[in-house]
Amino acid sequence: MVLPTNSDAKLPLHAASTQHTGVAARRQQPLRRRLLRFVLAAVVSAAFVQYFRLFAHLLQTNDREDVTVPLRAQEYLDKCRLLSVKPGPPPDFHARTRSDRFVPGTPPTIITNATIWTGRANGTEVIRGDILLHGGIIRRVGHFQDFALDEYADLTRIDAKGRWVSPGIVDLHSHIGNDPSPELNGSDDGNSFKGPVQPWLRALDALNTHDDSFATSIAGGTSLVLPGSANAIGGQGIIIKLRPPTDRSPTGMLLENPYEKNRTLYDPAVAFRYRQMKHACGENPDGIYGFTRMDTAWAFREAYEKARQIKQSQDEYCARAVQGEWSGLGEFPEDLQWEALVDVLRGRVKVQNHCYETIDLDDMVRLTNEFKFSIAAFHHAHETYLVPDTLKAAYDHPPAVALFATNARYKRESYRGSEFAPKILAENGLQVVMKSDHSVLNSRFLLYEAQQAYYYGLPHNLALAAVTTTPARVMGQDHRIGYVSEDVVLWDSHPLALGATPQQVWIDGIPQIEKPYTVEKPSSFQKVPKTPNFDKEAKETLEHDGLPPLEPKRAKTDTVVFTNVSSVYLREDQSIRQTFSADASDSLSAGLIVVRGGKLACMGPATGSCASYLHATQDDTEVIDLAGGSISPGLVTVGSALGLEEITSEPTTIDGYVLDPLSESIPDIAGGSLGLVVRAADGLQFGTRDALYAYRYGVTTGIVAPQGYGFLAGLNTAFSTAGRHKLEEGALVQEVGGLHVSIHPRGKPSVSTQIAALRSILLGKTTGELGHWVNKVREGETPLVVAVESADAIASLISLKGEVEHRLGRAIQMTLIGATEAHLLAKELGQANVGVVVSPTRPFPDHWEKRRIMPGPPLSETNAVAILLAHNVTVGVGVVEAWMARNTRLDIAWAALESNGEIQKADALALASVNVEKLLGINTDSLQGDLVATHGGDLLDFSKVVGVISPRRGLVDIF
Ligand SMILES: *[C@@H]1O[C@H](CO)[C@@H](O)[C@H](O)[C@H]1NC(C)=O
Ligand SMILES: *[C@@H]1O[C@H](CO)[C@@H](O)[C@H](O)[C@H]1NC(C)=O
Ligand SMILES: *[C@@H]1O[C@H](CO)[C@@H](O)[C@H](O)[C@H]1NC(C)=O
Ligand SMILES: *[C@@H]1O[C@H](CO)[C@@H](O)[C@H](O)[C@H]1NC(C)=O
Repeated sequence: MVLPTNSDAKLPLHAASTQHTGVAARRQQPLRRRLLRFVLAAVVSAAFVQYFRLFAHLLQTNDREDVTVPLRAQEYLDKCRLLSVKPGPPPDFHARTRSDRFVPGTPPTIITNATIWTGRANGTEVIRGDILLHGGIIRRVGHFQDFALDEYADLTRIDAKGRWVSPGIVDLHSHIGNDPSPELNGSDDGNSFKGPVQPWLRALDALNTHDDSFATSIAGGTSLVLPGSANAIGGQGIIIKLRPPTDRSPTGMLLENPYEKNRTLYDPAVAFRYRQMKHACGENPDGIYGFTRMDTAWAFREAYEKARQIKQSQDEYCARAVQGEWSGLGEFPEDLQWEALVDVLRGRVKVQNHCYETIDLDDMVRLTNEFKFSIAAFHHAHETYLVPDTLKAAYDHPPAVALFATNARYKRESYRGSEFAPKILAENGLQVVMKSDHSVLNSRFLLYEAQQAYYYGLPHNLALAAVTTTPARVMGQDHRIGYVSEDVVLWDSHPLALGATPQQVWIDGIPQIEKPYTVEKPSSFQKVPKTPNFDKEAKETLEHDGLPPLEPKRAKTDTVVFTNVSSVYLREDQSIRQTFSADASDSLSAGLIVVRGGKLACMGPATGSCASYLHATQDDTEVIDLAGGSISPGLVTVGSALGLEEITSEPTTIDGYVLDPLSESIPDIAGGSLGLVVRAADGLQFGTRDALYAYRYGVTTGIVAPQGYGFLAGLNTAFSTAGRHKLEEGALVQEVGGLHVSIHPRGKPSVSTQIAALRSILLGKTTGELGHWVNKVREGETPLVVAVESADAIASLISLKGEVEHRLGRAIQMTLIGATEAHLLAKELGQANVGVVVSPTRPFPDHWEKRRIMPGPPLSETNAVAILLAHNVTVGVGVVEAWMARNTRLDIAWAALESNGEIQKADALALASVNVEKLLGINTDSLQGDLVATHGGDLLDFSKVVGVISPRRGLVDIF
């Protein structure tokens, strides 16, 4: 036989197959021609030798009349053979000396004197030494004194100075590129709404490389981009590296080239790659298709039954085909729409399942056992920690659990979400992953999720693994990512220390930050941070089925003494001053704080006069040892709907949205367009879980404005986050503060119309209820609070303020909130005496009006807060969603850490206390402000809040 020399030898086979569509057509062909074609096909096959005997057998039997061999028999036999190939790297993968992603010309790099968290040994291995990056992979880790580096020309040397290096961060759940920032018409390709079951869709087909967040999320080396959760089966995910690809194409971002691009790299006959498939249960698919849970469960079962039938017919077909029993077999049974789901049943696709509640988790686990497939991970999965046994009953292996740290209660399904879920799941031996769901959370800060999980009790080795090795393993990619194997990050501190920031990120051996800005961190930040014990709280969470009582307990005695206090920060004339500090290592110098009736009665060193309280009145005195802790002002939150909502997306649990006189007509009964000024105080809800969580983590006051999508919001109010109802003493801090409007591009009415309306109400003859409050603004009594983002709108507001002040002959108070682009006008804002509530502190360019962010180190020298402060702007900080309020202490600590020492602790505390109050028109007497006691550190550390001293309410609360 003569082997064909044509390198396209496979083509005639495909060409032939398009001409013949059935057995009948084939029967009409002369037998000899059919045989010839068949022999050719066989010869062409690379597997000819392997199948030689089989074909010999076929040739012999072909003179029996009833045997028909499909024209594409060889192709089918190849397919049959591939059915049993298991995914994983090719056998010689670990012998590679160069990555398939290597960019020619990339010089080798050695990072010396690094503290390397390798990810190995269950996340406990740490090596002090050097790392050699060459050929797009990590060639060596260790000490290289005895190792010839001479062979490496152009070696780039980086001195890590003992700092931490980790593998590149791995995000198991992102929509980066599918739902790009800023959001514009037609850019959101996250969800298809064409049907509840669409395993054939591919996120790769919707990967937009012009997403602004690629450049900021770069610290995360790799992301799994998943279709959205609108469908029960939403389609196939893709794994990308965030480095800009040299060919600028979406395909170039893939962790591994698709087979279609370069088959030679990774021969599917040797090893398959795992694919990823999105599934979703519960509210999202149910709601979109008007389904009940029963309907969605059936949609899954119907789809899996279809896939099962195809798989079974393939297996039966192949069992006969490899025996040469072609008679009556026909074509290989397959269907492009269903092949990915069939591959799920073959264990070759990692199922990533958005699934929150016990009911849905249970449904999915039954489904896995009915159809015999495994789930790689449950995502969001807010109730998994309540039902570890359900997860353990899943087919083949328990799914991993991919979580947010503290983002919960945004919908009913997340109502029982707990910060202790990572800890509890790990204690049950389940794999924990922290994920961003970018842009739900900014994947740039995925490590922060791990830091919080660690703070709330996930062991440090598992916390770091939760954003590196564990997600890499869960997606079946740990042969190349998750360990120190391809991508590494050099951090400015221990990665679990708050605010850990990359000094450089190498992806495929290429440094990703062109000019990294670094800040000096205290040396204590090089060690794994100390964290409190939350065993009691975690146990209570389980005892109460995820809804532990959060109301604080009042101290039983009138006198409460805090001992072992290292520092005290108090309010003084609209600022914060450190009024006491002790050397934490010297217990004799530690402070004593005596509180009576909720008011400070004595403060000083333990050896001073305050000690008499401790000795004299032991029986009616509660003594709390703060173990070197601190007393600081209770923090104030603003910016979210905290106080007006329980579950954000549940209309019956929220105050709702105000009518807007600029874009809709206000009914007479509500006062008409000048008569309706809504007061947030009228809609306050007390005892919401987010308010109580905020209280437990040091945020004792909430300021909230009426919620709206329009121009005029109304009057804000300030309330105690621990209040039980509005009429309780001290629950309402101040009924009315500032008047809120907002200036945003929404299409209609225009931004210029909104500014004109503001000019009109400030300078025109505004009457009615609105006129009453506008007068107070004109008199400088009530601040005008403007929600605004873009620098251009801010510039117009600065001009308008000047115009109004010129006409009125007096100054008015103006505060901007949100103000993502305010840093561009820091000087002008300072000169115009316009205050700014930066909200959130770590910006994200999700909308066009916010695209010019000041990202903070390592991408910029400092952050917006520091820039504004440097220009004498009064700066407060805020949050966007109610669950974020509890993390205010971490936000201000982080903002201070980024400022290169410009923002001291007292300044940081002021950002979320006195400054916010001043900017929002809330007047708190210095002596009336709440104080927060922390154990084992100050409020800006990973300490634990153990009590609140409330002069206003005349009590001490103990947690
Ligand atoms: C991994 O670490 C966790 C937490 O430190 C521990 O509970 C677990 O037993 C370890 N697993 C193995 C296999 O060593
Ligand atoms: C490594 O860095 C640490 C911290 O800067 C330093 O104390 C030590 O001397 C360095 N070691 C070497 C071998 O350079
Ligand atoms: C495919 O990969 C091989 C091995 O890396 C390489 O030599 C070849 O040039 C690649 N071909 C294409 C078309 O990229
Ligand atoms: C800010 O205020 C200080 C003190 O009043 C002054 O010295 C400084 O020049 C001001 N800075 C700016 C940028 O205006």
